[in-house]
Amino acid sequence: MQLEHKILVSSLRKAYSAEKAAAFAYQGHAGSVKNKDEKIEIRQIELDEWHHRKEVLAIMQEYNIPISKYYEFRFHIIGKIISMACYVIGWFMPFYFAGRLESGNVCEYFRMMQYFHELGIIKHNQVLYEMGIKEKEHEVYFLGKIKDRRMLPLFEKIFTWGSTKSFNDVDLDKKYPVESSALYCKKVGSEA
Ligand SMILES: [Fe+2]
Ligand SMILES: [Fe+2]
Repeated sequence: MQLEHKILVSSLRKAYSAEKAAAFAYQGHAGSVKNKDEKIEIRQIELDEWHHRKEVLAIMQEYNIPISKYYEFRFHIIGKIISMACYVIGWFMPFYFAGRLESGNVCEYFRMMQYFHELGIIKHNQVLYEMGIKEKEHEVYFLGKIKDRRMLPLFEKIFTWGSTKSFNDVDLDKKYPVESSALYCKKVGSEA
């Protein structure tokens, strides 16, 4: 079966490659922090991203969607650059920008669910829900690390993400069930 939905197909191809960039970035991030617990936590997040990549690929294969060579190349470079940058930009920024990125990724998966629904396909709900919620958990983890840091208010002002601003409307304490989770991300704009 072919997916007759251009935006959805392109979102899947992009997400597949972007997950690799994230995983590479977390390799550098985990390598650059000194705290052992943080190393373990970030390494787990890297594994989550590899897992997402697998899940996205499984969906793509079901509809014969080819991997994008362009995105694979582009996100490979991006991931490696961020990975190296983690060693030179200090402690705060890798945590901040990881959280900001994760915040934007949450809605990617709920939007895909909405696109699938436009085609009458609901069988990927559970997987997309789990990935969206996992990205939210990542966002919350990174925010938790930096929320009391003096730099945060300034970064929040400039880069529009932080304690009071998010790129999604998911609240882990009051989660929607899978069946109604396509209601997420309807009003929130995509990442700035
Ligand atoms: Fe991910
Ligand atoms: Fe993530």
